[in-house]
Amino acid sequence: MRKILISGASRGIGKAIALKLLKEGHAISLGVRKKEDLMNTPLDPKLNDPEKFLVHTYDATDKNSSKEWIQSTVKTFGNINTVIHCAGIFKKTKLIFNNNEIKDIEEIWKVNVLGPWLLTKDAWEYLSINNSARIIVLVSMSGKRSKGSLASYSMSKFALMSLCQTMRNEGWNQGIRVTAICPGWVNTDMAKGINHFPKESMTQSKDIANICSNLLELPNSSVPFEISLNCQLEISD
Ligand SMILES: NC(=O)c1ccc[n+]([C@@H]2O[C@H](COP(=O)([O-])OP(=O)(O)OC[C@H]3O[C@@H](n4cnc5c(N)ncnc54)[C@H](OP(=O)(O)O)[C@@H]3O)[C@@H](O)[C@H]2O)c1
Repeated sequence: MRKILISGASRGIGKAIALKLLKEGHAISLGVRKKEDLMNTPLDPKLNDPEKFLVHTYDATDKNSSKEWIQSTVKTFGNINTVIHCAGIFKKTKLIFNNNEIKDIEEIWKVNVLGPWLLTKDAWEYLSINNSARIIVLVSMSGKRSKGSLASYSMSKFALMSLCQTMRNEGWNQGIRVTAICPGWVNTDMAKGINHFPKESMTQSKDIANICSNLLELPNSSVPFEISLNCQLEISD
C-alpha cells in the first residue's frame, strides 16, 4: 500500500487516478480547491476510511497551500511516498498576445510550473526516507514539441518537463523515481474546446489511471522516466 498525494483530483485525469488507486487499497490524500466538489461522489470523505483517505484544500497559486496539505497528510498517514501531479490549466495564449493576456501567462506559470515545483519541494523530506518513492507528473505532448501557436501552454509544459528531469537527477540516489506522462488529447473538460476531434477517439482518463497503477508496481530498476502516448499520428517532415 502506498501513501499518495494527488493534486487536481476534483475532475478529469486526477479524479480517474484517485478512483483507481482508492479501489486498489492505497492510502490517498486528494488536494482540491473546493472540497464540496467531491461531496456525494465515491471520493466523498464520508464514504471512505478516514485512516486511508483524506481530502484537503490545495490551490497551486497559493505558495503555502502545499505545506498545509502535506502536514495534514503526514499527520493522518504517518508518511508520504508518492506524489501524482495532475493539477493544471490550459490557455490558448499566442506568441503575439494582447496586453490583457499577460495575466494568463502569469497564471499558467504559477499553476503548471511553480505549483508542482513547490509541492515536490515540500514533500521531498518524506519522499527521501524509504528508498522507493515515486513522483508521477502529468506533463503533455506539449512539453516535448511545440505544435501550432499555444505559446503559454507549451512554455509551461517544457518547463515542467525540465523540472521532472531535475527531480529524477536529484532523487535518484534516495530511490525516488520520476515518470513524466505525456499524452496528446485526453477526453476531459480541458479538451472540450477541441471540436475537430471526436471525444471517443481521444485518450481516456481511465487509461492514464491504469498506466499510473502499473507504474506503482515497478521496482526502482525498471521505472520509465517518460511515457508518451497519443490518440493521433503526428508526422514531422
Ligand atoms: N486533457 C488533455 O487533453 C491533457 C493532455 C495532456 C496533458 N494534460 C495535463 O493533465 C493534467 C490534468 O488535466 P485534465 O485533462 O484532467 O484537466 P481538467 O479536467 O481541466 O482538470 C484540471 C484539474 O486541475 C485543477 N486545478 C486547476 N487550477 C488549479 C489550481 N490553481 N490549484 C489546484 N488545482 C487546480 C482543477 O481543479 P478545479 O476543479 O478546482 O478547477 C482540476 O482538478 C493537466 O496538467 C493537463 O495539462 C491534459
